[in-house]
Amino acid sequence: MHKPPEMSVYARHIFICVGDSCDEKARGKKLYHKLKDMLGDLADYHSALRVKRGKTPCLGVCSGGVIAVVYPEGVWYYDLNEEKLARIVEEHLRGGKPVEEYIFHRLADNPHAVFPRQPES
Ligand code: FES
Repeated sequence: MHKPPEMSVYARHIFICVGDSCDEKARGKKLYHKLKDMLGDLADYHSALRVKRGKTPCLGVCSGGVIAVVYPEGVWYYDLNEEKLARIVEEHLRGGKPVEEYIFHRLADNPHAVFPRQPES
C-alpha cells in the first residue's frame, strides 16, 4: 500500500471549463493558462491563502461560457474573459468577496448543501 500523498494547505480552489460546448471557441484553455500568472503569490505552495487551479473538460453547464466555479463557497461564474477573471482573482480569491455581477449560481441556494466549518472568531 502506498503512503498517502502530502499536500500543503490552501484556501480556495477554482475550476475552469476548457470544453467547447459552453464556449465554441474554448477560450477556457487560454484563461486557464493565464490564471497561473494572474494568481501570482496566491499560487505559492506555502501560502495560507493558496489558490489551487484546475481545468475540466466540462462542468455540466454547457452554455454561457467560459464557466468557472470557486470552492469552498461554491460560487459559479459565467461569460468569463481575461478582464473578468482578473477581477475575480483580486476581489474573490484574494479579497474574499465574490464578484456579484458575474455569478449565475451558488451552492448556498441549496438549503441541504454542506458548508465547511467557519473559522472561530
Ligand atoms: S463544456 Fe463547459 S460546461 Fe460543459
